[in-house]
Amino acid sequence: KDCVSVGLLGLGTVGSGVVHMIDSHQKELQQRVGCQVKVAKVLVRDMDKDRNVDLDDSVLTQNPDDVINNPDVDVVIEVIGGIDQAKEFILASLNNQKHVVTANKDLMAIHGRELLTAAVENESDLFYEASVAGGIPILRSLVEGLSSDRITKLMGIVNGTTNYILTKMTKNNVPYESVLKEAQDLGFAEADPTADVEGLDAARKMVILGTLGFSMKVGLDDVKVEGITRVDEDDIAYSKKLGYTIKLLGIASSTNGSIELSVQPTLLPSRHPLAAVNDEYNAVYVYGEAVGETMFYGPGAGQLPTATAVVSDLVAVIKNMRLGVNGKSVILPQHERKLKEDEE
Ligand code: NAP
Ligand code: HSE
Repeated sequence: KDCVSVGLLGLGTVGSGVVHMIDSHQKELQQRVGCQVKVAKVLVRDMDKDRNVDLDDSVLTQNPDDVINNPDVDVVIEVIGGIDQAKEFILASLNNQKHVVTANKDLMAIHGRELLTAAVENESDLFYEASVAGGIPILRSLVEGLSSDRITKLMGIVNGTTNYILTKMTKNNVPYESVLKEAQDLGFAEADPTADVEGLDAARKMVILGTLGFSMKVGLDDVKVEGITRVDEDDIAYSKKLGYTIKLLGIASSTNGSIELSVQPTLLPSRHPLAAVNDEYNAVYVYGEAVGETMFYGPGAGQLPTATAVVSDLVAVIKNMRLGVNGKSVILPQHERKLKEDEE
């Protein structure tokens, strides 16, 4: 049968999970897309690193052109993280008529519009479901499942690392520093965890959620951000005594065309549904005028949950390839379906 070839940029926590998923779920993938899916080339920094993946050494490369300029690669999956190089690789891939899947919220929150415009111009797909809330399919839920409604409020625990840290501090009375190391070892934290603990990672995700949920231009400058670095054991103990749980909460609301966004440690009554979201789990509360209250819950970080979102995006790309409709269903806010004309 035909084969779809994937080029992978990065083979860390998420990249290894993607390789594992494609291998362990090959039968399901073939059933869903009607052809074999294979990993053709993988970009890494260090060729000698010990990696727990079932891949032939010849597949690894340190030359990005072997992936983004490779005529045999149909779909590029970007999981190196960071902004400048990832942007360059994604733009080059799109301009080479490749489809792209990324888990990179740092990039999509800042340059999403430019990259999505390039995707539409090249009739390529650019999907980024894994960029927000790991394994929860929240982006498609906003732009497809809830597309008929007017969403006015989004509220969420969208950073797994800080939720893991706050959960352990609350349940086990352990200090912040020792739990951060655990979250890093478990693969939840970013390569530089400053963005997690300072709230920037959550802010970037709220920008993406706000953009899609409210169909408005939302930027990082619109978000008031405070992380968890000033939350100490005394804050946790007092809040518990008073019947509250501290969570790093992202809030985005839209009233009469104006929006407010914030990320900050928040005292939630312990009976509040969001107070029960523990460890690396995430939850996103969405209020729509017609639907009312909805809540999406699931693992927000980690290897296989994130890989599930990435590989599901890959399935969406391959289905579009089969139908010949790539570039027509990039995940855009409702009113921005014609991004290209909009830019002119
Ligand atoms: P990671 O474990 O640090 O892996 C990064 C990988 O990219 C490594 O394999 C590294 O190569 C490679 N790499 C980085 N820069 C490179 C360069 N310039 N050239 C070649 N290879 C390069 O990161 P991760 O946790 O997998 O995260 C990847 C992306 O997914 C990030 O955008 C992150 O925000 C996002 N994400 C992560 C999670 C999660 O739970 N971890 C969840 C959702 C989204 P070496 O292995 O050779 O060093
Ligand atoms: N570092 C991120 C988190 C990974 O902890 O939520 C998932 O985006």
